[in-house]
Amino acid sequence: MENLRNKYIEAIAAANDEAALETVRLAALGKKGEVSLKMRELGQMSPEERQVAGPALNELKNEILSAVSAKKEALEDSILNERLKSEWLDVTLPSRERPSGTIHPISQVTEEVISIFAGMDFSVAEGPRIETDWYNFDALNIPSYHPARAEMDTFYMSRSENDDRAPNVLRTHTSPVQIRTMENSGAPVRVICPGGVYRADYDQTHTPMFHQVEGLAIDKSLSMANLKWVLEEFVKAYFEVSDVELRFRASHFPFTEPSAEVDIRCSWDKGQLKVGEGDDWLEILGSGMVHPKVLQAGNIDPNLWQGFAFGMGIDRIAMLKYGVPDLRAFFDSDLRWLRHYGFSALDQPNLHAGLSK
Ligand code: DAH
Repeated sequence: MENLRNKYIEAIAAANDEAALETVRLAALGKKGEVSLKMRELGQMSPEERQVAGPALNELKNEILSAVSAKKEALEDSILNERLKSEWLDVTLPSRERPSGTIHPISQVTEEVISIFAGMDFSVAEGPRIETDWYNFDALNIPSYHPARAEMDTFYMSRSENDDRAPNVLRTHTSPVQIRTMENSGAPVRVICPGGVYRADYDQTHTPMFHQVEGLAIDKSLSMANLKWVLEEFVKAYFEVSDVELRFRASHFPFTEPSAEVDIRCSWDKGQLKVGEGDDWLEILGSGMVHPKVLQAGNIDPNLWQGFAFGMGIDRIAMLKYGVPDLRAFFDSDLRWLRHYGFSALDQPNLHAGLSK
């Protein structure tokens, strides 16, 4: 008995992995293990012999079992310790720089504009980029014989051969969203409508696709004074200056009466724009009081309601604020340009934190 104990306790101590330990366990306690066979012999012993050998064998069995499980634990611990040694890492190291994309200036500026107008209770509406010619022109008081149609350099979609309805167009401005908004939500209403628009034009300040933001406010007694205040608030917040001067120049748009183009006082110092001071004027948008025919086209009674509208080039105000000299670069997808002019995804525009990086 003592020999058996010594033999297995030593073998257990010598086992240096779990497989070797299992082999030792089976050799002692498996079906044909040495200790198991001994236990089977108990049946052939005399009762007196059995009384001595039985408990002793049981004790031996238990001793081996607990030695095996203690060794098993020790082996697991040492495996873990090995891993901990080799997998050691310094959590205080600065993280590795990962290449990440940037927010395109047009997206950033669109968010800035939305955030500023949201502060004045304007919500956001969107419309399709492929428009019927009714929404893009007629409903905005631009009938087919109107010169504004020819001036817009419109992209026309084609119709199938025997279809003689007027062709759809790639919308030339965001103004059709005014009509869709009036149809959908009636009056009173306060929205801005940002989005892509298209015209067949290409040079340093024109691309065939560009972006506008439309504004529309309709209520019982809105006037040009409200328009002026809203635009002043917008320009101050957007250019991050405390004071601006706006100049309303009489103009003509078919969808507004009266109409005004709006300039802001500015100066150019070595190509750098300063808003709010100086002797130059910079045109930034078209605006006016919504024409009664346009209200009617949107199913709103012009005898009860009136309002103002404006349309502004998003790309243009992005160029002005962030010093981008050539509009075409916005749409070249040149990675070097995007890294330079792009914004961090964490740089969320909001009014309290400042709008830009
Ligand atoms: N739709 C005009 C354009 O693309 C801009 C515009 C002018 C929009 C006056 C308006 C407005 O809402 O009132 O040139």
